[in-house]
Amino acid sequence: MKLNEYSEGEEKEMSVHKRPLNNNMRMEFDSVSENVALARMAVSGFILPFDPTMDEINDIKTAVSEAVTNAIIHGYEKFKGTVCLKCELKNDLLVVTVKDNGKGIENVEKAMEPMFTTKTEEDRAGMGFMFMNVFMDSLNVQSAPGFGTTVIMTKKMGITKQDVRCECGNTETEGTHPFGR
Ligand SMILES: Nc1ncnc2c1ncn2[C@@H]1O[C@H](COP(=O)(O)OP(=O)(O)O)[C@@H](O)[C@H]1O
Ligand SMILES: [Mg+2]
Repeated sequence: MKLNEYSEGEEKEMSVHKRPLNNNMRMEFDSVSENVALARMAVSGFILPFDPTMDEINDIKTAVSEAVTNAIIHGYEKFKGTVCLKCELKNDLLVVTVKDNGKGIENVEKAMEPMFTTKTEEDRAGMGFMFMNVFMDSLNVQSAPGFGTTVIMTKKMGITKQDVRCECGNTETEGTHPFGR
């Protein structure tokens, strides 16, 4: 006998953990190296409601570090400018934009090649864009000399971590269920 007014189907529906599906964040900071850590923390905090895995957090933080570091050391070099970090969650898609108004890139295709760097004297590895590519699902770089650089990266979030109620009645975390849910 049921003691509440809800049907079994409705109860099941309510047991599914609902995550916030849309959110936006935008911040601006000076192009000083101390702010790389700030950007990493901001993006980690932003994705936290999505119950990210450690791998997801580390991947996203690494990609953001590379983009922000590039804006500071290549975009503005010795000058001080403003770096803009934008994070958007559209359903389970994270879109991260890092924008500077610095010197821009002459040949974007070339700059994105692994091991290409214009700062050989500073012992740079030329792997920043490669890391962004590997750790995120997509990478788009818009730049022109004198017009700054905008890096847009996307990543599909947390599909494997969403709590679901299985047919067997147990609440499990998707991806960890023995039958593959
Ligand atoms: N925001 C930026 N502004 C100007 N140039 C950039 C920017 N980001 C990247 N670049 C150029 O692209 C090259 C490759 O970047 P990256 O792959 O991160 O390697 P690295 O930073 O080690 O040089 C840089 O050496 C630089 O010439
Ligand atoms: Mg770099």
